[in-house]
Amino acid sequence: MKIAIPKETADGEFRVAASPETVKKLTDIGISVVVQTEAGLSADIPDAQFETAGAVIAKDYSSAVDKADIVLKIQPPDTEELKSFSKGTCLICLMNARTDKETLRAVAKAGLTCFAMEMVPRISRAQNMDVLSSQSNLAGYKAVIDAVSTYKRVVPMMMTAAGMVSPAQVLVLGAGVAGLQAIATAKRLGAVVTAFDVRPAVKEQVESLGAKFLEIEQVAQVETTGGYAKELDEQSKQNQEKALSAILPKMDIVITTALIPGKKAPVLITEEMLKTMKEGSVVFDLAAEQGGNCYGTLYGKTEKLYGTTIIGQSNAASRLSAAASPLFAKNLYNFIVPMIDKETLNLKIDFNDEIYQASCVTKNGEILLKENADV
Ligand code: NAI
Repeated sequence: MKIAIPKETADGEFRVAASPETVKKLTDIGISVVVQTEAGLSADIPDAQFETAGAVIAKDYSSAVDKADIVLKIQPPDTEELKSFSKGTCLICLMNARTDKETLRAVAKAGLTCFAMEMVPRISRAQNMDVLSSQSNLAGYKAVIDAVSTYKRVVPMMMTAAGMVSPAQVLVLGAGVAGLQAIATAKRLGAVVTAFDVRPAVKEQVESLGAKFLEIEQVAQVETTGGYAKELDEQSKQNQEKALSAILPKMDIVITTALIPGKKAPVLITEEMLKTMKEGSVVFDLAAEQGGNCYGTLYGKTEKLYGTTIIGQSNAASRLSAAASPLFAKNLYNFIVPMIDKETLNLKIDFNDEIYQASCVTKNGEILLKENADV
C-alpha cells in the first residue's frame, strides 16, 4: 500500500494533507508513505520531519503520486496534476463537488475513485473526519484577528487618565462553526458581541458564549434534517432586513459566515445598509467565495466602500497553515483508517457505510454524485 502526499499547487494554498504525526501512524503499521519534497514547507513542516516519521521524500509531483493506492490532498487536482495520476488511484481531498462539475468530470476521466471530504455526513461517528469543522473553526478565529488588525481603534474597553475608550461592537452573522469561533474570539478580545443565525437552535449556543442573540421573527422552519440552513421565505427575509438595518449603524466590526449548502450565499448587508455604517467599520466576509454576504465583497480582495473596509480574503484557514494542516491531516487519517485491511494492508472500502457512500463522488472513473444531492 502506497499513500502519497503531493505539494499543493493552487494559488494561496499553504496547507499540506499530512503531518509528521499522521505519517508516523501510517508507517508504523507498514504502509509506505511518499511525500513530495517541500510539500510541508509553507506549513512549517520541513522534509526532515516527514522523513523522521518514516516517509520517503519524492523529488517531484509525478514521482510522488505515481502508482499510489491513495493520494491525500487539500485542494482538488487540476488537469496538469491529473496527468501524473495512475488509473484506479483513490483520491481524497476537498472537491467542491456540488459546484465544480468540471473538476469532477476531469477526475472521473482520469479513472480515479474519489472521496470529497466536504460531503462527509455531519454524524457523530464522522466528527473526527470533519474537515469543514476543523477548518471553519480556524477561519472564524482568523477572520476576527484580521478584521481587528484592519480596524483603526481598539477592541476592549480601556479606562485611561486621558479618557475612556468604549469597547468595539462586533456583529456575527451566521453562527455555525466559523461564526461560533468568531464570537468566542471577539469575546476574548473584549468586544461586545451580538450574533444572528436563521437556525433557532443556535440561540442557546450564542448565549452560552456570552454574546447577545439578535431575535428576528421567522415565518417558516429553515433547518434541514442534516442541520443546515435553507433559504428564507420573503416575509422572513424582510424581517431580517429590518433588524439588520437597525443594528448595523451601531457596529464597528461585522463577521459574516452565512452559507446555504450548494447555493449562492445570501446577501445580508445591502448597499443601503452599508451606507449607514460607521466610518472606519470593518466587514470580514467569510462567505466571499460563495458570492459574499455583503454588497460589494470582492473575493480575494479588500476594498473600502462608503467608509467601511470589506475584506473578502480567500481561504482563511490556509493562512493559518501550520495550525490547519495537522488538523486536516488528522481528519484524513481518521477517514482512511477504516478503509485499510489491517492484515493485508490492501484497500477494503465499505461502500455501504454511509460515510463512504455519501462522500464517494467518482468510483473507478464513474461519476456517482447525484445532481442536487441531499444535505
Ligand atoms: P455553514 O457553513 O453551512 O453555514 C454557516 C451558518 O450560516 C449556519 O449556521 C447557517 O444556519 C447560517 N445561515 C444561513 N443562512 C443564513 C441567513 N440568511 N442569516 C443568518 N445565518 C444564516 O454551517 P456550518 O458551520 O458548517 O454548520 C452547519 C450545521 O452543521 C450546524 O448545525 C452545525 O452545528 C452542524 N455541525 C454538526 C457537526 C456534527 O458532527 N454533528 C459538526 C459540525 C457542524
